[in-house]
Amino acid sequence: MSGRARGAARPAGSPAIRVRPRRELRRDRRRRSHPCWDHLIAAPLWPLHGANLGTLLRTCDAVGACLAVPRLPWVPEALERGNTLRRPACVHWTGDPLAWLARERGRGTRVVGVELADEAVRLADLPAARERTVAVLGHERDGIPPEALDLLDAAVEIPMVGGGHSLNVAVAGSLVLYKLAGLL
Ligand SMILES: C[S@@+](CC[C@H](N)C(=O)[O-])C[C@H]1O[C@@H](n2cnc3c(N)ncnc32)[C@H](O)[C@@H]1O
Repeated sequence: MSGRARGAARPAGSPAIRVRPRRELRRDRRRRSHPCWDHLIAAPLWPLHGANLGTLLRTCDAVGACLAVPRLPWVPEALERGNTLRRPACVHWTGDPLAWLARERGRGTRVVGVELADEAVRLADLPAARERTVAVLGHERDGIPPEALDLLDAAVEIPMVGGGHSLNVAVAGSLVLYKLAGLL
């Protein structure tokens, strides 16, 4: 194996931080690569901007999650454009978002809303998903619609100290997916 092993002593004269080259990353990824587990699903069910779906798709690949989206006329093309991965991503087509959420709950899936809500737990206190989990993301402007709130088992909020009301939905979703995947 080329490259410096984690924690190994640094050879004299080499930089303190060694950025791993693409070829090395690709080789390691292939070795660790797994099919999607169908265990963790990011669900931007009321999407507005295609770019956010592309960002979420990449995060899903990184953490081994699937993406669930309604088949709005523009969504397949947005995913095609956003999929910069070498292999097809795992996408679930939901049809009606509320009916899909209800079906998921019916089969025992835990449904976690990613939202600024009174009852939400803070991201730091969110445990990794131990059961099949859907992370529901809200509409870019309007958030999670009221009629979907009753279908949530829990909500998670990412604390903010700045002047903005909220984070970009793909940023919020990515942070929560990493936590649910147990990679943070
Ligand atoms: C831009 S926000 C929605 C707008 C928001 N309701 C407002 O009034 O500013 C889009 C989505 O991103 C997610 N989101 C953004 N910031 C968040 C945060 N700090 N904690 C949890 N979710 C967040 C939620 O899913 C939210 O529905």
